[in-house]
Amino acid sequence: MRRIISPSMLSADFGNLERDTLMIDRSAAEWVHIDVMDGVFVPNISFGFPVMKPIRKATKKVLDVHLMIVEPEKYVARFAEAGADYVTFHYEATTDIQKCIDLTREAGAKVGISIKPATPASVLREWLPQLDLILVMSVEPGFGGQSFMPNSIGKCEELTAMKQEMGLDTIIEVDGGISSKNAALLFNAGAEALVAGSAVFGAADPEAEIINMINAE
Ligand code: DX5
Ligand code: ZN
Repeated sequence: MRRIISPSMLSADFGNLERDTLMIDRSAAEWVHIDVMDGVFVPNISFGFPVMKPIRKATKKVLDVHLMIVEPEKYVARFAEAGADYVTFHYEATTDIQKCIDLTREAGAKVGISIKPATPASVLREWLPQLDLILVMSVEPGFGGQSFMPNSIGKCEELTAMKQEMGLDTIIEVDGGISSKNAALLFNAGAEALVAGSAVFGAADPEAEIINMINAE
């Protein structure tokens, strides 16, 4: 099983974006998580293409883009073209999941679907064979620094069982309230990628916190 850490740039210092991106680039984290919020799907606005651009320039790491926007079908291709390796949209944000999948793939990125804490994992069963990634939210999307919701652990176990049953290697990623204190629980439940914003950027030594998450027991 892989242990991928995806530090969330939402918690970076935007006055020092290049410095913070280069720090992640040097670190043991394999991915960089980009949270795009539109103020409609979630009650907060983060950033879009102009901020993603310098991040893409400063690192060769995998860009893991998490779209918290309504009608993602309008933008998935642009994020792929702007250098996203994975484009993940929300199950709850669109009435045309197939279109979002197709547009993302045609634009050359890998496809992920995210579910909010109240959305059951079972809704993903029919889409799973077409997905590279599933993003389980362990907080209500919209803000960094919230407390971890443990119902995400059961969802990881359920999705892991679904994957095994179907013989798939879809990556399960979890996002929200994650640190070296609860990382092991999620890795043991079948998650292979963990997002961490405040735990990484709030740490006295962010690179050490990333290593602690990877080695968590
Ligand atoms: C929340 C975002 C998260 C957020 C995580 O809506 O999707 O990626 O940055 O932040 P922490 O790790 O602080 O909960
Ligand atoms: Zn996120």
